[in-house]
Amino acid sequence: MPFSSIAKMGKSRKRVDVLKETPGMQDRRMVQNTVLEVIKERRTVRKYRKQNISDSDLNKILEAARYAPSAGNQQPWEFVVIRDELNKKRISYACFDQAWIAEAPVIIVVATNTILSTSKYGHRGDKLYGVQATAAAIENMLIAAESLGIASAWIGAFSERAVSILTACPEHVRPCAVLTFGHSDEKPIVPSRQELKEFVHQEHFGKVEVKDDRNHEIF
Ligand SMILES: Cc1cc2nc3c(=O)[nH]c(=O)nc-3n(C[C@H](O)[C@H](O)[C@H](O)COP(=O)(O)O)c2cc1C
Repeated sequence: MPFSSIAKMGKSRKRVDVLKETPGMQDRRMVQNTVLEVIKERRTVRKYRKQNISDSDLNKILEAARYAPSAGNQQPWEFVVIRDELNKKRISYACFDQAWIAEAPVIIVVATNTILSTSKYGHRGDKLYGVQATAAAIENMLIAAESLGIASAWIGAFSERAVSILTACPEHVRPCAVLTFGHSDEKPIVPSRQELKEFVHQEHFGKVEVKDDRNHEIF
């Protein structure tokens, strides 16, 4: 069977190799179900076992980032992989002392390369596309990790300056997220989600009617 079934059974995490092979039509339906399940199963996990992440699994997570979309295919992202205990402690301190971060076997600092993000698209690339592409890469990584039975967290609260210095990022490489990865026995409950009807709008935002004369103004 090309794809193993859904990611979780009770507390134990099972591998789901969604990245592995090109499926036939029947398999594709299974993959769709599996991908949606994995997306829903992913949680922010803040407690990890000591167990290391294999290089092979880490490469799969980084490969998932590689295939993220980016404006003009600029791929404006950089990743610093941190496994050293002292470096992890320093990073957790730079994340305003979120001590649990240092317990993860792998930390990845994700940064936007602003030379790449601005080269084609200037200000818009800098303010918008670079961050969007980097965020797409991050989400790919978290979903890939989940599919491999590896827990993760996305940390946004950190001193950019401190993380820059600790990772020796040059000025044009701007840290935008700290990610943690590790095996875990934790399975946090799903934090509440809004209903679709609360944030999905049909044709226009809310119930506002767009009049013809306004259309003329826009176009
Ligand atoms: C941009 C961003 C920044 C975040 N920063 C932190 C953080 O600094 N510390 C933390 O513990 N969790 C952080 N989180 C995780 C969120 O708290 C978490 O995604 C949210 O509560 C929903 O839970 P879930 O990821 O399990 O669905 C961050 C998530 C995002 C997307």
